[in-house]
Amino acid sequence: MGHSEPQLEQQARDPFWMPFSPNREFKQEPRLFVRAQGMYCYTPDGQEVIDASAGLFCVAAGHCRPEIAQAVFDQLNSLDFVAPFLRAHPKSFELAQRVIDYTPEGLSRVFFVNSGSESVDTAMKMALMYHRVRGESQRQLFISRERAYHGVNMGGVALAGMANNRRAFGTGLAGVYHMRHTALPENRFVCGQPEHGAELADDLQRFCQLYGGENIAAVFVEPTGGSFGCLPPPRGYLDRLRAICDAHGILLVFDEVITGWGRMGANFGAQAFGVTPDIMTMAKALTNGAQPMGAVAARQGIYDTITEAGPERGVEFFHGYTYSAHPAACAAALAMMDIFRDEKLIDRAAQMSPYFLESIFAMKDLPIVTDIRGVGMMAAIDVAPGATPGARGHEAQKRLYDAGLNLKSTGDALIIAPPFVAERHHIDEIAGKLRAVLATL
Ligand SMILES: Cc1ncc(COP(=O)(O)O)c(C=O)c1O
Repeated sequence: MGHSEPQLEQQARDPFWMPFSPNREFKQEPRLFVRAQGMYCYTPDGQEVIDASAGLFCVAAGHCRPEIAQAVFDQLNSLDFVAPFLRAHPKSFELAQRVIDYTPEGLSRVFFVNSGSESVDTAMKMALMYHRVRGESQRQLFISRERAYHGVNMGGVALAGMANNRRAFGTGLAGVYHMRHTALPENRFVCGQPEHGAELADDLQRFCQLYGGENIAAVFVEPTGGSFGCLPPPRGYLDRLRAICDAHGILLVFDEVITGWGRMGANFGAQAFGVTPDIMTMAKALTNGAQPMGAVAARQGIYDTITEAGPERGVEFFHGYTYSAHPAACAAALAMMDIFRDEKLIDRAAQMSPYFLESIFAMKDLPIVTDIRGVGMMAAIDVAPGATPGARGHEAQKRLYDAGLNLKSTGDALIIAPPFVAERHHIDEIAGKLRAVLATL
């Protein structure tokens, strides 16, 4: 990128501690964006890079939407902040109403947070609180799954099923048991929901027998595993989890931080796979990534139970963030709700999905490709590991950037999740660049 020696030296000493990044390597070999528009991001030297991961699954409507920028600008100039405890502003009520137009029927109470991680920890606390006020405070255990990603706050890390995200972080992670993941060898190169693996949901039944179903507060799953590399649920798997939860009074929580807002080709994974959870988390595309915001949608009965158990004029749920329902985030999300409605963005994702998936699955002939999975507007390509696990995936995402394509890699999985405004020629460009770079690895 044409950086001079003193510039590089300065960057290597830079105080910015980057999240989830190899800091030392990055600062020697920076890959930055300085501008973005629609389907593209731009490097400091003006190279156009197609955004094949919608930022980080956020930018469903494409980058730098003027409607959102204007809404945030106007909001900050009229009401920049309101304490969210004991005070409120009208847009928070309006946004909750707009959100429940998209959630499955019955999930009609919305709690605002600032990130996916916060939505997960909030959902855990809701589950504990709900059981406690019903006189079932023995329900303290949580169940999640291997390969799961539920953010990086301590609750979410306890739920996490990815070893590197947990191993350093101590004893605060106790009380969670992990079901097996569903990435079976017989499901390799299956497009959409695989046929094999529904019976893996019976791990939950085993935990109920072993630890007592009456001691389990909630089961957390991503309807399609996202960050690990697109793991769609086997047919019947989520239904089976739902049935076991119902039999034991356990709450089912879908972590829809990635799968929500159209990524699966329906409003949420819940609708895409026909299973309704009790609680649902969301973030990312809620504001098109333009403001940090997440939310938790809960069944009406959960809200009623918790609030009715509280003292008449007292706080019912001791939880919330200074920036919950921040006015600028609400303004961005409301502008995004208009875009979802006016541009039928979720229908558009559903319509583009077959072409997108076909283009990605066409890469199965490349010798380096060991598996491809995909559903809706998300897919992952696994490349054969290099010297160490993850080394080749890491190298791939760097070379792809240099070749003009941005995506997220996790280990040796390359995750493709473009904005829903992608046209066929954008999908062709993504597939073309991927093929060209994968052939060089
Ligand atoms: C399923 C899931 N849950 C939670 C999170 C955490 O979200 P955030 O990074 O906004 O805290 C993510 C992030 O990718 C996610 O994919």
